[in-house]
Amino acid sequence: VSDADEFKPLKTLKVLVSAGPTQEPLDPVRFISNHSSGKQGYAIAAQARDMGADVVLVSGPVSLDPLPDVKMVSIHSAIDMEKAVLKEAADADFIIMAAAVADYRPKASADQKIKKSDDHLIVEFVRNPDILKKLGEIKTPSQVLCGFAMETQNLDENAREKLEKKNCDLLIANNLSTKGAGFQTDTNIVSLLKKDSIEHLPKMDKKELGKRILEEMLAIKKGEK
Ligand code: CTP
Ligand code: CA
Repeated sequence: VSDADEFKPLKTLKVLVSAGPTQEPLDPVRFISNHSSGKQGYAIAAQARDMGADVVLVSGPVSLDPLPDVKMVSIHSAIDMEKAVLKEAADADFIIMAAAVADYRPKASADQKIKKSDDHLIVEFVRNPDILKKLGEIKTPSQVLCGFAMETQNLDENAREKLEKKNCDLLIANNLSTKGAGFQTDTNIVSLLKKDSIEHLPKMDKKELGKRILEEMLAIKKGEK
């Protein structure tokens, strides 16, 4: 192993990361979305690039600058994110779903701006595809899949259930009820779940957490699964 390999441990690997929120259109001027800043996903993508990987970042609308030397794919809706992610997933070695994908979208997006009329407006929503679950179904033996989980209660149990249901190798669980964790911040407080373990990590910088996640995925790929 040369010096360069030590610093570029992900050389020759393709890392696919999703980040940010999705926007689900209601009409030409309105959408439903969430508070995801994209910071954690961007931090992972930047870290993977610095570790020598070929990086593709599928990103919802965020106010962050595009990352140099990373293939950026910009999308708005969950349906578009699914299309972009599945297209890039086939030859990816590591896939990390850090995006906050909307679970539901308005059943129809109006062609024209919705005018106000009654005192109440009822919008019907339909379920979006679960991208991570689909990735878990089509995962090849050499692929390593990492999901995220946002929880406000019963974190350990809910996160374990997601890891299993979506066939992930690694799951990073965000406790949204903790300060310094999750949306908008530069730090994160998470639990790291694998098939047979759970570890509660201390507060970490998002890029530092990115490094930890990628190192875990590399260990899993090397057969410590
Ligand atoms: N996810 C996805 N597609 C969706 C919803 C979620 O790929 N339509 C992914 C997220 O990117 C994340 C993981 O699934 O990596 C868990 O997301 P989360 O919202 O915590 O869990 P859900 O499965 O959507 O369950 P719920 O929101 O009901 O807790
Ligand atoms: Ca969800």
